[in-house]
Amino acid sequence: MNQTTAFDPREFRATLGTFTTGVTIITARGADRQPVGVTANSFNSVSLDPPMVLWSLAKSSRSLEAFQQSGHFAVHILAAGQEELSNRFARSGADKFSGVDVGEAAGGAPLLPHCSARLQCRTSFVYEGGDHLIFVGEVVAFDRSGLPPLVFQAGKYAVATRKVTALAPAGGLDANWSEDHLPYLLGRAYFQVYFRIREQVRADGLNDDEYFILSTLAVRDGLTQGEIEAGLSHAGCNCGFPVLAGLRQRGLLRGEDGPGDLRWFLSDEGRRRTLHLIAAAKDIESSVLDVLGEWDAVALKNLLKQLVLSTDPGLPDLWNPSSPRSATAGA
Ligand SMILES: Cc1cc2nc3c(=O)[nH]c(=O)nc-3n(C[C@H](O)[C@H](O)[C@H](O)COP(=O)(O)O)c2cc1C
Repeated sequence: MNQTTAFDPREFRATLGTFTTGVTIITARGADRQPVGVTANSFNSVSLDPPMVLWSLAKSSRSLEAFQQSGHFAVHILAAGQEELSNRFARSGADKFSGVDVGEAAGGAPLLPHCSARLQCRTSFVYEGGDHLIFVGEVVAFDRSGLPPLVFQAGKYAVATRKVTALAPAGGLDANWSEDHLPYLLGRAYFQVYFRIREQVRADGLNDDEYFILSTLAVRDGLTQGEIEAGLSHAGCNCGFPVLAGLRQRGLLRGEDGPGDLRWFLSDEGRRRTLHLIAAAKDIESSVLDVLGEWDAVALKNLLKQLVLSTDPGLPDLWNPSSPRSATAGA
C-alpha cells in the first residue's frame, strides 16, 4: 500500500473516494422561503437514541446561508434511477426544483419523490469543519420505499449488489476454468433462464429461430431478410428464406415488395401469438428477477449492458429505430 506523506489534494480526494457511499440530496427552505438543495455524499448516521444524522456543506456553497437559517433540513437517499436528479442538484445555483413534484417536510423543507429513503431533520448543531460546516440533525420523521439506492464510488455512480458465495464447481471440469469463466457463466445463466421461455415457444409449435424472428418483427415490422439476419446474428439464428416462407405459409408472416427487397410483416395472427409469447417471457423474467431481488436485478442488468456495450463489434441496433446503425442494418 502506498503511504503518502506530502499532501497532494487530488490524491487526498481520490483516497477519500475509495470510501463507497450512497448519494443524497439535502434540501431546506431559507429565511426568504426560497427552496435550496445540494447533492451530498458526506451524509452519515450519528446516533440511534436520540436519532441523529450529519452531513457537511462546503462554505463556498451558495445555499450555505439558507441551510444555516432554516433550522430544518430533509435528507433524500437517492434511488439507483435518480442519477440525473443528483447531477441537477450538484450544479451550483441552477434552478434545481423546476419540474420536480415537491412535497413539504418538517420546517418547510422541500420533499422530493421516488427516493430510496427520506429523513426529515431539525438542525441540532452546526460545527466548523475546515472549509465545510458540519450539520447535525435530529430525525423527526422518516420513510423508505425499498427502491435500490444510487451508489458513489471513486468519483463515479454505481449500483449496489450483494456478494454471493461461488457456484459449486461443475463435476469433472477444472474449477478455475469452469466456475469463474465468464462465457461459461453467461452461457449457463442464459440457458437456465431461457429454457423456461423455450418450453412456451415449443408449446406454441415454434422453434427458437422462428420465435426470435417473430419477436424481432414485433419490435420492428417491415424488415428485409438481410436486416433480420443482421439483427439476429448474435443469436446464431437461421433466418433464411425457407424459414421466413414457412412462417408465411403458416399464416404468421406476410411479405410485401418494398424498396430493394421483400419486406416481412407480422400477420394479425402472427402478432397475436408473438405478443402472447412475449408476455409469457416477461412473466418468466419477473419471476427470475423476483428471486434475485430488485437491487441485484438493477446491478445485473447494469453489468450486462456494460458488457454488451464494451464488446459490441458493431451489431445493428434494431431496438432503437433512431440509432444510425439500425438504418443500415443488413447493409
Ligand atoms: C456525488 C456528489 C456528492 C457531493 N457531496 C457533497 C457534500 O457532501 N458536500 C458539499 O458541500 N458538496 C457536495 N457535492 C457538491 C455539491 O452538490 C455542489 O457543490 C452543489 O452544486 C452546491 O450547490 P449550491 O452552490 O447551489 O449550494 C457533491 C457532488 C456530488 C456529485
